[in-house]
Amino acid sequence: MSWLLHLDCETRSVDLLSSQLWDLGTTGIAELGNGVVVAGFDTQVEANQARLVLGHGTVSEYDPAIVPTPAPTKVSFGKSTIELVETSVFGHGAHETTRLALDALEQIALDGLIVLDFGCGTGVLAIAASLGGAAVTAVDNDPAAVQATVVNAATNKSDIAVAGEVPDQVFDVVVANMLLADLQTIAGSIRSSLAYGGTLITTGFLRDQGDQVLDLFPDLTLARSASKGEWTLLELSA
Ligand SMILES: C[S@@+](CC[C@H](N)C(=O)[O-])C[C@H]1O[C@@H](n2cnc3c(N)ncnc32)[C@H](O)[C@@H]1O
Repeated sequence: MSWLLHLDCETRSVDLLSSQLWDLGTTGIAELGNGVVVAGFDTQVEANQARLVLGHGTVSEYDPAIVPTPAPTKVSFGKSTIELVETSVFGHGAHETTRLALDALEQIALDGLIVLDFGCGTGVLAIAASLGGAAVTAVDNDPAAVQATVVNAATNKSDIAVAGEVPDQVFDVVVANMLLADLQTIAGSIRSSLAYGGTLITTGFLRDQGDQVLDLFPDLTLARSASKGEWTLLELSA
């Protein structure tokens, strides 16, 4: 991390801003309180691109006086603890959307199921499903996330298939924690990956975007919803 993008936003929008920054390729985020967020980038060009996309912020060279908040590396899942040694991509476990998805996975009898973690980030959800006894495939279009998932899966002795693209097969459970814009681009792929009678667990969008997500899957039935902060999770049945 050599370049920093400094941003001010309303306190309630920090989570949304953080998600946008991860999508824009930040290498790490420090939330300094009162809506002040500092995001690291490898190059000045990337930091400036993120500033242009977000429409605000100032870019400066890395100042060692600003120390990013260390991400939590231990994540509880049922009676297990997941250890994340590679957290440079999204999915350190403390974000409300990740927690919502973990809580939803905890409520499913995963043993023996075939699970797809679509947009795996650190692989935290894939590892959780694997600990629950599922056969898991984790997919992410970010090579850094694929690498992080491989490392974190090995740390947790989880046998997970990790890939950059969704394999041509169907799954009992698909879990996807993604912003609405990303979900819109992969909705077709999610639907064709879901087995008859399967379950889609999806989060990463705001409370008032739930209807737009339901519209993406018109033939699925809403089984359950949950919210944390401004984020929502929907569980849909095929
Ligand atoms: C919000 S993070 C979720 C990470 C982790 N699953 C969690 O719940 O904490 C979303 C992830 O989806 C990935 N992603 C976004 N669009 C994607 C796509 N079209 N195909 C595969 N992965 C995608 C991003 O690279 C990112 O790692």
